[in-house]
Amino acid sequence: MARKRLLTVGTANIDFLLKTPYVPSCGETVISEGEYAYVPGEKGANAAVAAARLGSEVVFCTRVGDDAYGDRLLRLYAENGVDSRYIKVDCAEQTGLAIVMLERTGDNRIIVFPGANRNINDTDIENSFLSYPDAVLTQFECGEKQVLTAARISAEQGLPLFIDAGPATPDFPLSKLQRVEVFSPNETETAVLTGIRPNTPDDCLRASIKLCSKVDMKYVVLKLGERGAFIYDGKYCDIIEGYEVNAIDTTAAGDAFTAALAVEYLRTGDIYTAVKYGNAVGALTTTKVGALNSLPREAEVRKFMADQETE
Ligand code: RIB
Repeated sequence: MARKRLLTVGTANIDFLLKTPYVPSCGETVISEGEYAYVPGEKGANAAVAAARLGSEVVFCTRVGDDAYGDRLLRLYAENGVDSRYIKVDCAEQTGLAIVMLERTGDNRIIVFPGANRNINDTDIENSFLSYPDAVLTQFECGEKQVLTAARISAEQGLPLFIDAGPATPDFPLSKLQRVEVFSPNETETAVLTGIRPNTPDDCLRASIKLCSKVDMKYVVLKLGERGAFIYDGKYCDIIEGYEVNAIDTTAAGDAFTAALAVEYLRTGDIYTAVKYGNAVGALTTTKVGALNSLPREAEVRKFMADQETE
């Protein structure tokens, strides 16, 4: 079967990773634990590399700076089989950077310096569609205008569009998004976009109905972390339970989940199978520290899922 080509329009950066016993409050200083690291990350890149490792053909549209970090990222994407023809080296801005504070619990707090990512423009995005993608994946992180442009061209070309709603802002003009195949926010993003925290199945349903009233979408998939994911198609809903793992760092788990969902959905056409696969990929991503380096490969995921079935 021919591999599907997934165009990812999104952000790329280096994560400055610091481990901390807890996040300091205002005026407080905390001594970090272990070592710090500069590791590749950012939602668009995490998703692009995740999809490539899971067996999709991936074209990545982004910008990096004309600096050592930009060079390092370009090399890494190539090593992972990501088509980098539509990545621009931006001479005006540095490569993006995110400060990732990783708590002992495995949870994180992130501050992003977008750098070159903020210069991703309509021409970059329009050009990337010349790669003849089968589907498009984007994240709110790459900017409102950029997401709307990717959505407009996807709709014009009749391409399925997968949206990871991270990070969400309450004023994002959801109604301007054109036909979305799968819209996928996490718990925090769901609360920001709908005012409803998806704690119970009822909350999940109310939040999904609210999202469907704002966005023309086929499926809402709420990412519920270790609880799994909630699917709503405008009529029916279901929760697909997550996998139990020893989670040590949740960074990039949501990015990997949405990328995996897109890859498996394009392979099978079945949202339930795709979400289950996304749950497995998300869970495995939390078992290693870091963003891009923690993303699993197809063989590892299949083995993990098969082992879970026999347990
Ligand atoms: O979703 C995780 C990513 O978000 C990190 O890699 C960091 O770059 C932030 O943007």
